[in-house]
Amino acid sequence: MCGIAGYIGPLQAQAVLLVALERLKYRGYDSAGIAINHDGEITCRKSHGKLTDLEKITTLQPVLGHCGIAHTRWATHGIPDSGNAHPHSSGDGSIAVVHNGIIENHQVLRDDLESAGVLFSSQTDSEVIPHLLERHYEGDPLACIRTVLPLLRGSYAFAAVFDQHPGHIYVARQGSPLLIGRGKGQQVLLASDIPALLPHAHEYLQLQDGQLADLSSQEVCISTFSGDTTDLTFLPIELDVEAISKGDFDSFMAKEIAEQPEILQRLLESRLHQGTLAQPDLGIDLRHINHVVFLAAGTSWHAAQLGKRFLEHLARVHVEVDISSEYRYRNPVASGGTLVVAISQSGETADTLASLRLAKSKFIPVISLINVLDSTIGRESDGIMPLLAGPEIGVASTKAYTAQVLALYCFALHVARVKGQLSTSDLSHRIDGLHAIPHLVAETLRASEASITEAAELFTAANGTVFLGRGGEFPTALEGALKLKEISYVHAMGYAGGEFKHGPIALVTPSLPVVCICPRDAMYDKMISNIEEVRARQGRIISVGDADDQSLAQLSDHLFPIQRCHDELLQPLLSILPLQRYAYHIARNRGCDVDQPRNLAKSVTVE
Ligand code: M6R
Repeated sequence: MCGIAGYIGPLQAQAVLLVALERLKYRGYDSAGIAINHDGEITCRKSHGKLTDLEKITTLQPVLGHCGIAHTRWATHGIPDSGNAHPHSSGDGSIAVVHNGIIENHQVLRDDLESAGVLFSSQTDSEVIPHLLERHYEGDPLACIRTVLPLLRGSYAFAAVFDQHPGHIYVARQGSPLLIGRGKGQQVLLASDIPALLPHAHEYLQLQDGQLADLSSQEVCISTFSGDTTDLTFLPIELDVEAISKGDFDSFMAKEIAEQPEILQRLLESRLHQGTLAQPDLGIDLRHINHVVFLAAGTSWHAAQLGKRFLEHLARVHVEVDISSEYRYRNPVASGGTLVVAISQSGETADTLASLRLAKSKFIPVISLINVLDSTIGRESDGIMPLLAGPEIGVASTKAYTAQVLALYCFALHVARVKGQLSTSDLSHRIDGLHAIPHLVAETLRASEASITEAAELFTAANGTVFLGRGGEFPTALEGALKLKEISYVHAMGYAGGEFKHGPIALVTPSLPVVCICPRDAMYDKMISNIEEVRARQGRIISVGDADDQSLAQLSDHLFPIQRCHDELLQPLLSILPLQRYAYHIARNRGCDVDQPRNLAKSVTVE
C-alpha cells in the first residue's frame, strides 16, 4: 500500500517523479505529493485525490530541482485529504519524509512529541518520523536515522530529504518493499516497484529489511541498521515500457483481460515440453507430500480453491485452503509430509507473507506461486512457481487469476505423475488438451462479448447481484462477485448453488440478476434446479454455459456462451472470462474508474 519514489540526477525531479507516481498509483490514490530539495531549500506540493490534481498544482506552481521524493497514498491512519498527504515535514521544514507501511506505536511516539511541544499537522502515523528525525538530528542524517529506527515499531519503507544535504536521499526499509535503481548519466532512482524506475533506470537492487541507504548521484551506500556496510548487487531491468502501458485500451483491466490467451500460451510453453510436463524445480521431493495447505488472499484465494479440487482429484492429496489473514493467527499443526503453497500475484501481500513465515517457523516447506518473482514472498520461499503473466496493473486481478488456475492445474498433474496417481493415457489426454486452452480463451472472450454488453446495459442500475455455482464453479461464483463489487460498487455475493435455499434465496425479486454458472458438467442438473427456483420467484437469470446449450438459453434472460474445455476440472478457467468482462462493462456504465476503484490498492502490504 502506498507508493514511494525518489530521483537524483540531471533531469528536473518533478517531471520524473510525476511519471513514477503514475506508475505507482495502483498502490493507492487517496492523495499524492512531492518534495524537492533545491540547493538546500525543500519545497512540497501535495493534493488530495487522484494524481491529476497534483499534476495541475505542479503545472501551475512548478518546483525546480534535481533531487526529490514522492508519494501516492492509500489511507490507513487519517482520512484521505491533503493534510494527511505525504511528504510530511519536520516542524522547521528542514526534513521531509515519505513513508509506506504502518508505524504501530505512533500514538505513544506522538504523545511523547506533543508533550514536548511538537505540533502535528496531520492525523497520520507517518508524521512521527520527520519529527523524530528533527529531534535527533545533529548534522549527520545517517546517524540520526540510526538513532530513530529503534524507536519505530511496525513496517516501513521511508525516504527522507534533509535541507542541509542537497543531492542526497536517505532511505530505510523494514517490512515494506523498496528498490533502488541506477541509470545512465549518474541517475539514481527509488521506488516501491520496478515499473516506477522506468525509463531512467536500467538496473536495480532490492533494499533488504534492516538496511538503510544514503543515495546521491555519485554513490549508493547501503548499510545495515547496526552500521555494517553491504555489497551492492544490481540486476538488469528486463521490463520494457510497452508492458506497463495501456496501448490502445481504455484501461489496464481491459488490456489485461484481452492478454489472457497470450499469457496462458506463454505459461503453457514454460510448463510443457515435447508433450510432457516441465514443472519448475521446487527443490522438494513431492513424493513424500501427503498434505498441502494453500495460503492466499482475495482472488488468489479463489484460485487456491480450484487448486484444492485439482490436487485432490488428480493427485489424491489431502488439501486445505486458508485465508492468509486467518492462518497467521492460528496455531496450525505441523506434521511431516505437509507442504505450504503461498499464492500471490504481487508476492508482497502482508498477510500471505506473515502466514508463510509462520509456516516456516514450524519447519514446514513453503513454495510460492507468484507473478512478481523478485518479491518478498518469492525470496522467502523454498521454491517458486512463476506465473509469467507480466505486470498486472489494474487493481482487479484478471490475467493473474487465470494464470494461477492454469499453473495450479499443471502443478496438480505434476504431483499426480510424481505420486503415480494417473495412468499414462489419462495424463497424456489431460496434457494434450492443454494446447487448445489459449484458443478456447480467445474464442470465449470473442463470442460472449455481444450478450455481455447487452446484459450489462440492462442491469447497470441493479443494486445487487447474486452469483451461483457448484463444484468447480463455486470459486467462479466467488470470483465473479468479487470482480463486480470491487470495481462497480454493486453489492454482489457468490454462493454455492446448494446453499442458496438456506437463506439467500430470500433476496430474489424480479429486479435481482442472478448469475448462474452452468456449464454441462457433473453439477449441471443441480444448477438447472437452481435456475428453476430463481425463475419461480421471477428473478432474472444470466447464465454462463455452453455455447450450444439451447435449453439453458431458453431458461435464461441472457446466456454468456463459453467454450468447452477438454477436462471438466479446468472448465472454470473459461467460465470466469465473461464475468470479468461483465464486471468491466457494469463499472464503465456506472462511470467507475475500473483501474483505480475507490478505497482499494493493488498491493496490500499492510495488515
Ligand atoms: O497480490 P495478491 O495476489 O497476494 O493479492 C491478493 C488480493 O489482494 C487481490 O487478489 C485482490 O483481492 C484483488 N483486488 C482482486 O481483484
